[in-house]
Amino acid sequence: MKKSEIIESIGLKGNNAENLRSKANNITEKIYGNKIFIRGIIEFSNKCIRDCKYCGIRKSIKMNRYEMDYKTIMVLIKSAVKIGYKTIVLQSGEFPVHDDMITDIIKESKKELDTVFTLSLGERDEQIFKKWRNAGAERYLIRIETTNRQLFKNLHPDDDYDTRIESLKALKKLGFETGTGVMIGLPNQTDEDLANDIIFFQKNNFDMYGVGPFLPHYLTPLKNASITNVDTVINFVALMRILTINANIPATTSMGTLRKGLRSEILKSGANVIMPNHTPLEYREDYMLYDNKIGVQSEPDDTLKMALCDIEKAGKIASFEKGFRSRI
Ligand code: 5AD
Repeated sequence: MKKSEIIESIGLKGNNAENLRSKANNITEKIYGNKIFIRGIIEFSNKCIRDCKYCGIRKSIKMNRYEMDYKTIMVLIKSAVKIGYKTIVLQSGEFPVHDDMITDIIKESKKELDTVFTLSLGERDEQIFKKWRNAGAERYLIRIETTNRQLFKNLHPDDDYDTRIESLKALKKLGFETGTGVMIGLPNQTDEDLANDIIFFQKNNFDMYGVGPFLPHYLTPLKNASITNVDTVINFVALMRILTINANIPATTSMGTLRKGLRSEILKSGANVIMPNHTPLEYREDYMLYDNKIGVQSEPDDTLKMALCDIEKAGKIASFEKGFRSRI
C-alpha cells in the first residue's frame, strides 16, 4: 500500500471500513485461527522518573507511589499461573531502582513455573536488558508512542526519540520478541503521522504492536485534549494487521475504556491478543494512566471474566498458550 492509500484507509467509514476490517480478520484467522491469546498483566509499581505529558503516573503528579516487594510479586505470579496464564506481563513506571529484583523474580519463576515473561519497564542500557534476557525473559515492550519526532519531543520533555529507537534495536539484537506501539489521536497528530507509524512498523518488523487511543488524564497538561475517534482506532488496527501480517496485536485496556465493547470489535478487526489485568484491586486506583480506566473496581478474576466475555462476543476462542509470534 502506498502512503496515500494508508492515509485514506485510516479515514474509512461505513461499508468501506467494514471491508478493510474483515480483510484484516481474514488474515488474522489464516495465521492464528480464531484463537485469542491471553496474557496476565501485573502492574507492580507506579514509581516513575519520567514526565511524559499524557501519562497519569508522570513524575510530577503528587500521588501515592507504590512498589510491590519481591514476595508479593512472586505470590501474584503463582496465582496467575494457577489460573492458567502462560504469559505474565510485568509492567511499571520507568524506575531503574528495581532492576535487580526483576532479575531475581524471573530467575526464581523459571526454576519452577512454565511461564513466559513480557517486560514493560521502559528504557534501560543494553547491559540491563541483557541481564533480564539471560535470566530468561522472552519478550519486551516499549512503545515509540509516535514516530513524529517533533510530537515525540513535545510529549516527552525528558526523553529522546533516538534513545528509544536504540533501546528497541538492543532488545531485538538480544533476541527478545520485541514489541512497540503508538497512541492514536494524540493532540496535533495527523492521519499522515499515523500512516508513518504503520510504515515504521512494517519496515522494522517487530513481533508485537500494542496500540491504543490517547485518553486524557485530569492531572496532566493534556487534560483538555479531545477524545480519539473510534473508527480511526479500529481502522488503524486493521491496517496494522494487513501490513505487518503475523505480529501479535492486542485489543488493549485503553480501547475498552474509549468505548464499551470496543475490544470485541477490535478482536474482529485484526487483533489476536488480550491482556487482562492481574493487579489486585487495592493498587488499581494508583495505576490510572488515563481517566476512567476500566477495571479500577475489579479484582483479577473479574477482569479475566470481562476479557473472556469480549472474546466470546467477538466469536473467538480464548487460548492460554504461550502465544509466540507465528512465523507463517
Ligand atoms: N492515554 C492512553 N494511553 C496512555 N499511556 C500512557 N498514558 C496514556 C494516556 N493518557 C500508554 C502509553 C504507554 C502505555 C503503558 O500506556 O502508550 O506506553
